[in-house]
Amino acid sequence: MTRKDKILVTGATGHYGYAVIESLIENGVNESSIYALARDHTKVEKLKSLNVNIAFGDYNNYGSMLKVFSGIDKLLFVSSDELENRSEQHIQVVNAAVKSGIKDILYTSQEHKEVNFSLIESIISSHLATENAIKGSGINYTILRNGLYMDILPSFLGKNIFKYGIYLPAGNGKIGFALRSEMAETAAKILISTGHKNKTYSVSGDSYSFSEIAEYISQITGKNITYLSPGLDAFLNTVIDQGMSKKCAKMIGGFAAATRQGELESNGLQMEKLLGRKPLTVKQYLEETFICNFLSSAG
Ligand SMILES: NC(=O)c1ccc[n+]([C@@H]2O[C@H](COP(=O)([O-])OP(=O)(O)OC[C@H]3O[C@@H](n4cnc5c(N)ncnc54)[C@H](OP(=O)(O)O)[C@@H]3O)[C@@H](O)[C@H]2O)c1
Repeated sequence: MTRKDKILVTGATGHYGYAVIESLIENGVNESSIYALARDHTKVEKLKSLNVNIAFGDYNNYGSMLKVFSGIDKLLFVSSDELENRSEQHIQVVNAAVKSGIKDILYTSQEHKEVNFSLIESIISSHLATENAIKGSGINYTILRNGLYMDILPSFLGKNIFKYGIYLPAGNGKIGFALRSEMAETAAKILISTGHKNKTYSVSGDSYSFSEIAEYISQITGKNITYLSPGLDAFLNTVIDQGMSKKCAKMIGGFAAATRQGELESNGLQMEKLLGRKPLTVKQYLEETFICNFLSSAG
């Protein structure tokens, strides 16, 4: 990037976008070159403290995107969290980027393997539609296929792990997790360096099975943590009966079942190279953060 490049980060009121902006600043980018996209005027207090430019727009509003993209050189397009009409929303964003003359676009996609029938089809299809729109747009692109946030691993393990063990329909499949903050740092490093034109990267840590995770937690806590893997339907019936919302059960069950058929397995080599160090491993995460929190909340 040149010193004068203006970088716009979307989803800046969210966890990932905000962390990318913090990392850009830590890596020496002048605040005046950074533009943060928000859609809600009541959510920008924290962003204001970073002294970056704040722009307002909504992916659903093409005109607002055209306005905020004007004069921007590089766009970090953070995927929306609204699954229903995500492809349509995203394609509007890409069209506005083309019309505004944006030179480079980075997009946060999802790590996955191609399979005949994906168990996370509703998530992957909109990412692929967006990737294809970007690739066909003529804009220089970098696709970041992010693995799962390690930050959501506790939701997979459940609150009652010490009582019932791990209960997930993931079989012996492996899943690649990385800390969201390290994925954000990776994106910031790509934004400020060269050599990423028209590349697709896996931004994910090494992969682990839930039996390995159960074993780590057993070692760390000295408690015997079991791992039981039911079929997807049995999982959904059980956890919904126990009070988990249908939406949450379907999300966790879908990701776990996709893990079972190898859709989410990855290795951390590409992320390590881009980040410039080995990302935090699941084992370290369990040792350093999760177990302490868990033990204190479990009393
Ligand atoms: N890899 C993973 O494990 C994983 C897990 C969860 C989600 N994701 C994906 O990664 C994205 C970023 O993660 P995150 O943790 O930062 O999510 P987050 O904290 O929920 O942030 C999502 C951001 O997107 C913004 N946004 C949503 N819809 C928008 C729209 N129509 N127009 C403009 N902005 C919109 C939100 O704005 P508001 O603050 O106004 O809502 C927020 O700033 C998510 O949106 C989702 O697509 C990945």
